[in-house]
Amino acid sequence: FVPTLFVDGVPLPPFPGLQINLQRIDKFQARSDDIWIVNWPKSGTHWMWEVVMMLSSGRAKLRDSVKVGAMFPEACTLQAAEKMTSPRVLDTHVPLKLFPKAALKSKIIYTVRNPKDACVSFYHHQKGMSMYRLDNVSWEGTLELMINGKAYYGNWFDHVEEWLKVLENNPNALIVTYEDMKMDLKKQVRRVAEFLGYKRSEKFYDDVAKLCSFGNMKKEKRDIKSAWSKESTGIYRKGTVGDWKNYFTMAQNEKFNEMYTRRMKDINLDLKFEL
Ligand code: A3P
Repeated sequence: FVPTLFVDGVPLPPFPGLQINLQRIDKFQARSDDIWIVNWPKSGTHWMWEVVMMLSSGRAKLRDSVKVGAMFPEACTLQAAEKMTSPRVLDTHVPLKLFPKAALKSKIIYTVRNPKDACVSFYHHQKGMSMYRLDNVSWEGTLELMINGKAYYGNWFDHVEEWLKVLENNPNALIVTYEDMKMDLKKQVRRVAEFLGYKRSEKFYDDVAKLCSFGNMKKEKRDIKSAWSKESTGIYRKGTVGDWKNYFTMAQNEKFNEMYTRRMKDINLDLKFEL
């Protein structure tokens, strides 16, 4: 039982209001100070969201719940988005063709993670989330879905390629990799702040980086217990680079690398993933 919603050929998770939001996507009213966090799932959305919320509010404090604020068009309704106070921080995993056109002029932070690690993280997400009821989900099956573009939100390569085409050389867009955040979080926090036009003190950047360390977020952020199976570690699972090595067989790795080389050859981006 894999509950999937297909929109324009893209497999999407069955969020209750998603289809209605997509039907009315042109009604989305963008604001000049909106900030979007966009990515393929499991690429550090919650992490970037905390960073951006602290930078935009000027308060170095973790938000209470594990929830990411306004996931549009997936979970947040048009009306709820309209009621949000500015600057709005919105996030989505949808491919470019399902994104509100009016929002393409807003500030967009696109986070990219090594697809192998994103896939491992996705596997645990599918296995652990109660709503999917995928107790029998296997690693092999998840990787197949990923390779065939049948995982939620479709093919990772299409997602990255289409988004990067409109975002590269766009002064309103910033590309941040999960791996760079892991390597030097304070540096990336400062970079995001500069991109958003916020000038905060070095102490502030230090505080944000400390609060947003994996250990601190795992300790402080409350996962919604009912959303996850008992065995699951929830959103804050491992938070490392290279966990894929514990999952990919040699054959799976070769197959994936062959596809990566073929699909990424036209993508002009310095992604320092270990493949
Ligand atoms: P893992 O499953 O590999 O641990 P998203 O927020 O897009 O759903 O991504 C979730 C992934 O980001 C999970 O990866 C989670 O552990 C990781 N993550 C969340 N907060 C993090 C942090 N502060 N530092 C590093 N990784 C973090």
